Amino acid sequence: MKILVLNGPNLNLLGIREPEIYGKVSLEEIEKYLTDFAENHGVEIIFYQKNGEGELIDLIHRYYREIDGILINPGAYTHYSIALRDALLAVGKPAVEVHLSNLYKREEFRQHSVTAGACIGYIAGFGVDSYRLGLIALIDYLKRREKDGAGGKA
Ligand code: DQA
Repeated sequence: MKILVLNGPNLNLLGIREPEIYGKVSLEEIEKYLTDFAENHGVEIIFYQKNGEGELIDLIHRYYREIDGILINPGAYTHYSIALRDALLAVGKPAVEVHLSNLYKREEFRQHSVTAGACIGYIAGFGVDSYRLGLIALIDYLKRREKDGAGGKA
């Protein structure tokens, strides 16, 4: 099983970026943690962070044939990237959206996600743990679908 993990703009600055909101853990540490966690579950992770909307879309186009699912933190693109939403819908791979912060506790413009509707589910507000919980949810979903046949539901 192979999962593409995508991180949007400014997430490369995790650890120094508004630590009171996003915590002190770096993206490199998240990558290492997720890779180890996935490996223990027999899952391979392909991990990227890109600041550009088109770069994230290009990665979805490049990898969709060889992956089983997508774990994505679209960063600020969450709130307005219809192009990213369309890319997720176009490839039809099960995706889980994750956020470090609880968007409903923040500014009004963050309280709407255009990308979450293209995902099977959404986890936010648990800091770095959102990634782990999102990955578990995605792996469980994919395993269940494998067991039940391609028509399995969330
Ligand atoms: C974020 C929330 C977004 O609103 C913000 O633009 C980010 C990070 C999160 O993980 O909490 O870049 O996606």
